Amino acid sequence: MNLKDLYIDFFVSKGHKQIPSAPVVPENDPSVLFNTAGMQPLIPYLMGKSHPYGTRLVDYQKCIRTNDLDNIGDTYHHTFFEMLGNWSLGDYFKKEAITWSFEFLTNVLNIPKERLGVTVFAGNDVIPKDVEAIEIWKSLGLNEDRICPTSNDNFWIAGETGPCGPDTEMFYFRSNDAIPTKFDPEDERWVEIWNDVFMQYYKHEDGTVTELPKKNVDTGMGLERVVAVLEGVNDNYASSVWKDIIKVIEKVSNKEYAGNEKSMRIIADHIRTSVFISADKSGIKPSNTDQGYILRRLIRRAIRHAKKLGIDINSNWEEEIAISIMDKYKKYYSEIDENRSVVLEVLKNEKIKFNRTLEKGLREFEKMTKSINDNILNKDLTFKLYDTYGFPIELTCELANELNIKVDVDGFNEKFKAHQELSRTSSSGKFKGGLAGNSLVETKYHTATHLLNAALKIVVDKNVHQKGSNITSERMRFDFSCDHKLTDEEKNKAENLVNKWINEGLPVTVSEMSKEDAIKSGAECMFIEKYPDIVTVYSIGDVSKELCGGPHVKNTSELGHFKIVKEEASSAGIRRIKAVLE
Ligand code: ALA
Repeated sequence: MNLKDLYIDFFVSKGHKQIPSAPVVPENDPSVLFNTAGMQPLIPYLMGKSHPYGTRLVDYQKCIRTNDLDNIGDTYHHTFFEMLGNWSLGDYFKKEAITWSFEFLTNVLNIPKERLGVTVFAGNDVIPKDVEAIEIWKSLGLNEDRICPTSNDNFWIAGETGPCGPDTEMFYFRSNDAIPTKFDPEDERWVEIWNDVFMQYYKHEDGTVTELPKKNVDTGMGLERVVAVLEGVNDNYASSVWKDIIKVIEKVSNKEYAGNEKSMRIIADHIRTSVFISADKSGIKPSNTDQGYILRRLIRRAIRHAKKLGIDINSNWEEEIAISIMDKYKKYYSEIDENRSVVLEVLKNEKIKFNRTLEKGLREFEKMTKSINDNILNKDLTFKLYDTYGFPIELTCELANELNIKVDVDGFNEKFKAHQELSRTSSSGKFKGGLAGNSLVETKYHTATHLLNAALKIVVDKNVHQKGSNITSERMRFDFSCDHKLTDEEKNKAENLVNKWINEGLPVTVSEMSKEDAIKSGAECMFIEKYPDIVTVYSIGDVSKELCGGPHVKNTSELGHFKIVKEEASSAGIRRIKAVLE
């Protein structure tokens, strides 16, 4: 059985609810480009908000870390990885968390306890040594020699700020050597496999730390590493996670993995991450900023390594690799199957684009390296490679490195930043122009749309459903299912009802719940399959309840006077109302 299934089943048997993986691009957190840990999408809940699935959660989460792109190509770094995690939101704490971790490792994965070692928090000026964790590990039969208190590595936080706390990390002795009696986390034969964080603090921007309202447990197990460990391979890419993908790369390149490891690992890793970014709900496409630029860099670097392996770039090599990846993951991530053609198109388009300049760029690079005399590629040259030939900086560095030539990366970054600022300002300038001044008006129309929807159900037919909506700062347009032209009486009644609700000053409230509960509660929604598993529901007094992303006004009294200006046919069985707020 698969590790993901074993993990989920085990924690479900301990009263946890499985939650779906959140998208790789965070939905409500502009502070990070990608989810870097299983806990990231759960931050609001770790800070006290109640979770619609309860207080014991388990999942496998798509994560992307791109801070060490340079390391990709070794045996164990990946830009994309899956993290298994279980959480207690103010529910159980250290005793259950550690006991279940131990039980899963020794009873389900059958790891002999002799091969396990753990680190625990040794304490610092602010937080005391985690004696409780030590005692729990001992009570489970772990020898004291296998419990190592450290201070630096046993306090976990996702970045600079946020929920955090002391942790206990579990290590596995991976070598065939005799197992030393004393566990030493610095000895590379011990590999970290799981982390239980006892999250009880929140670190603020000014560096101060306060207690969270409730104590939580946050655990994280990197799937790729654990599978490799369990399968007894020293190279993650030789494990069952990667084996089939590497085989396809061997086939399309007509070369063996042995001797070509680095390029094959980079291709496998980068294409897999590109598949997950392109299939993500956020719809990211290759571009020159933010997530889009990461996607572009990953695809381009993969292409360069494919070229290095002698793959004919114009063949459909990337498609074959992407398909093998998608086939592997579609069972666990429905978006992979749903967006199959999008993924293939993204890869192909970017390939065609880069292939146009790659050859020329490589020739230019060669020319540059021959003409420099101080063995360093300066910022102007590297920027030219980027701007004219589309070479991301790490690609230039990689090429230069192969010739022992240095690159002025800092200089490049300066130029690059200035360039990005320029393009960002020009695009956000446009954006602001479009929204400035009328976003409040549009928000009002959003709320009026919900009211009209509710009014038509009462006045015309309870089976009236929204079929479309379009809002500008001037008016709202609302399409709905209806088999007849509205009579003047119906129009008047609908208009009057909306105005009555406006005059009543009904509060507009928002709550978050599972899609299932939302439907059960009778909330109106247009395309149920298009919504995430956890949805926001807007209620207006008790006259309207709809699944909606917002935004809305706080009270209907803000809307002014509602007037229907036109009612007409839109298409068969669908009528259209145009209305204004005055
Ligand atoms: N959030 C913790 C980690 O990533 C579990 O290690």
